[in-house]
Amino acid sequence: MGYKAKFRVWRGEGGEGKLEDFTVEVNEGEVVLDIIHRLQATQAPDLAVRWNCKAGKCGSCSMEINGKPRLGCMTRMSTFTEDETITVTPMRTFPVIKDLVTDVSFNYQKAREIPSFTPPASVKPGEYRMQQIDVERSQEFRKCIECFMCNNVCHVIRDHEENKTNFAGPRFLMRIAELDMHPYDVADRKDAAQEEHGLGYCNITKCCTEVCPEHIKITDNALIPMKERVVDRRYDPLVWLGNKIFKR
Ligand code: SF4
Ligand code: F3S
Ligand code: FES
Repeated sequence: MGYKAKFRVWRGEGGEGKLEDFTVEVNEGEVVLDIIHRLQATQAPDLAVRWNCKAGKCGSCSMEINGKPRLGCMTRMSTFTEDETITVTPMRTFPVIKDLVTDVSFNYQKAREIPSFTPPASVKPGEYRMQQIDVERSQEFRKCIECFMCNNVCHVIRDHEENKTNFAGPRFLMRIAELDMHPYDVADRKDAAQEEHGLGYCNITKCCTEVCPEHIKITDNALIPMKERVVDRRYDPLVWLGNKIFKR
């Protein structure tokens, strides 16, 4: 059975904007993105929203629904009561281009700063042999759809714009962890994780893990193990002694 829902949607460009109220039809089985599309079709033709797959796989439709980061295409209207006002706003951590569309280029910049997979020169493609457990470890991280909701929700940059230059965010700290744990990656990732990508800023609040639509255990399986690997390196007495001798 259809009903009329109350929607409050952020409209604006650049730093300027405000919430606008709409009353809009909802039908059984619909998701929030369907309602945004109905608003475009019937009341607000210039309402900007980014989307692509409508199947929870492209990571484009990230937005904040009642203050929580969500994929618009995977948020069922049946999770709200019919008399509830549903507030839809753009991701707060990234600059707004227009309405619900944010400029997520911060994330691509951070991706570029991480050197790619670096196998040893002595092993040729086709000669890699990995244990299943190593394959599975990186497969979990590779489920990432780059929705950037984890980076959006992490307080280190959500509340502190000034940290953006020094903090890659959970998505890319996870990428560094994935490469560091890869048995054939020989690049030195540990010092860079700490000194260039801000691993130490993460105080394990786990908000990133809570919002991940792919249910990746970002904190437990990537960030905490990476912190342990960095600590092992720094506080291993042999490594410490080696550094003392060879850095003279
Ligand atoms: Fe999105 Fe999860 Fe990937 Fe973060 S780790 S970008 S929340 S899919
Ligand atoms: Fe931020 Fe996730 Fe750490 S939300 S503080 S990166 S556990
Ligand atoms: Fe692709 Fe929502 S439109 S994840």
